[in-house]
Amino acid sequence: MTDCIPVITLDGPAASGKGTIASRVADALGFHYLDSGALYRIATLDALSKGIDLDDAQALSPVFEGGRILLDGRDVTTAIRAEEVSSATSRVAVVPGVRAALFALQKNAARLPGLVADGRDMGTVVFPEAPLKVFMTATARVRAERRYCQLLERGETADLEALTADLEERDRRDSQRATAPLKPAEDARLLDTSCMGIEEVVKKVLEWWDETKKLS
Ligand code: CDP
Repeated sequence: MTDCIPVITLDGPAASGKGTIASRVADALGFHYLDSGALYRIATLDALSKGIDLDDAQALSPVFEGGRILLDGRDVTTAIRAEEVSSATSRVAVVPGVRAALFALQKNAARLPGLVADGRDMGTVVFPEAPLKVFMTATARVRAERRYCQLLERGETADLEALTADLEERDRRDSQRATAPLKPAEDARLLDTSCMGIEEVVKKVLEWWDETKKLS
């Protein structure tokens, strides 16, 4: 029954700004917001804390059985954003069993009055019926600089060269995996945000949403 619930998907590579834009667009429209990457990050943190081998697909698949999203009641908001978790997550996210376990959770996030969902496969796999699909990009250098500033703001140390290399490696893994690879849906609108500010990007997506509603 998600077909009549308005969904906007925002996909793109690491640190392309999807999360910031998606939550602002959701706020502007009064829609719910789904950060699908957070689900993959929580699954990864769970696997890491249990010492599961990240190359062992069979051991990884049951990590999310039952659709748990809380890690034993522990607040993991900050822990899932650590750089080593980011890198490990793109290894866990290649496992079809993990993706299948998270699919229903993501589908269930579609509730009235609407949903803005960000990730890698929101437009291609999870919400292919969404009337507006956006694929955001920015050069690896610009994305690494954004992540660098985020880490400094959080009081962490960061190395720009290492961040750029890590983003490129994650993009390669996310784009080349067999299941739900990172790629624009055929009907996605492409947005290169390398030279755009946050407000400008939010405005563009809201303009596209207005156009989409008029056409439906
Ligand atoms: O914020 P950032 O773009 O760095 O990461 P994220 O959106 O939280 O996603 C972290 C990782 O989860 C990605 O590198 C992907 O490997 C995986 N992911 C995925 O496979 N599918 C999704 N729908 C969302 C995230």
